[in-house]
Amino acid sequence: MAILVPGGAGYIGSHNVKTLLENGREAVVIDNLLTGHRQAVPREVPFYKGDIRNPADLDKIFANHRIDSVLHFAASSLVAESMVKPLDYFNNNVLGMQSLLAAMVRHEVDKIVFSSSAAVYGKAEKMPIEEDAPLLPTNPYGESKLMMEKMMRWTALAHGMRYVILRYFNVAGAWPGGEIGEDHRPESHLLPLILQTALGNRPHIAIYGEDYPTRDGTCIRDYLDVTDLADAHERALNHLENGAESLVCNLGNGQGYSVREMIDVVRKVTGRDFPVRHEARRPGDPPMLIASSKKAHDELGWQSQKSLEDMIASAWDWHRLHPAGYGD
Ligand code: UFG
Repeated sequence: MAILVPGGAGYIGSHNVKTLLENGREAVVIDNLLTGHRQAVPREVPFYKGDIRNPADLDKIFANHRIDSVLHFAASSLVAESMVKPLDYFNNNVLGMQSLLAAMVRHEVDKIVFSSSAAVYGKAEKMPIEEDAPLLPTNPYGESKLMMEKMMRWTALAHGMRYVILRYFNVAGAWPGGEIGEDHRPESHLLPLILQTALGNRPHIAIYGEDYPTRDGTCIRDYLDVTDLADAHERALNHLENGAESLVCNLGNGQGYSVREMIDVVRKVTGRDFPVRHEARRPGDPPMLIASSKKAHDELGWQSQKSLEDMIASAWDWHRLHPAGYGD
């Protein structure tokens, strides 16, 4: 039996595909390669260039493989882009989920693990954020993920599916040894941008906003290693395979780092110095996001293992070995 991985050529999806193989599982990837990279998927994994919004693309895969469950990573995921192109986000993310769930119903596949996001909480008042915090997204990206969660709940109820929703906080790091890693075009995530600046490939790193109500005025995020995240997915699959109930869990480290602190830790880990520029706030950014992962620990036995220094070190290996990303 195989696991279908929509979005398996993306940053998070590709690390999960490698982890599935390491765990002796079979994976099948569908990716439209709009943001993913074919080279990120191991050659031995059946790969379909296609779009989950197209039912025929999905039907072909369900006909060719015995699919037991789905790990769903295929989505647009940039907060700032979603503020200027909201309809693209509702199209790709929400229609994508509708089409995927419909195909699962057609082919009687009843287990799904879904990549949701801290963005569903918006500007949470209470830190760390627990799963029952108010769901008030501040951007169309977070809104689309919340809509996707709701679609899953109702579909599960009507069609006897079970799901695990994993609300990730900020994912960072790379596969140990730097074989695969993060490569967005254009890059907008903080850590890869700082590392590319440390490499000398960018003139400076910008700090977006220094007047937030935080300890040093810059935004605080909870960074989580991509391989720890993949471990959580394996545990979520086991949870569903053991017949347990549907579940919603946050995934984070439980510790917040400000933008300034991130820059300082990168300087320490890489031993390099580089210029920093101060810029205006980026629209849609909440000041602080820190996860409580107690539920993931209690229900899945999961705990993050990697420190921020570990994440930065593996990401640094990836960027040094592949200065042009997958374009190398
Ligand atoms: N930032 C800078 N300078 C940069 C880039 C980012 O100061 O050049 C700041 C941002 O303003 C933000 C923080 O660094 O405060 C982190 O920004 P990222 O773009 O790396 O990440 P986000 O927190 O915006 O979003 C990420 C994912 C989302 C996910 C969210 C959950 O992109 O998909 O984490 O926390 F929803």
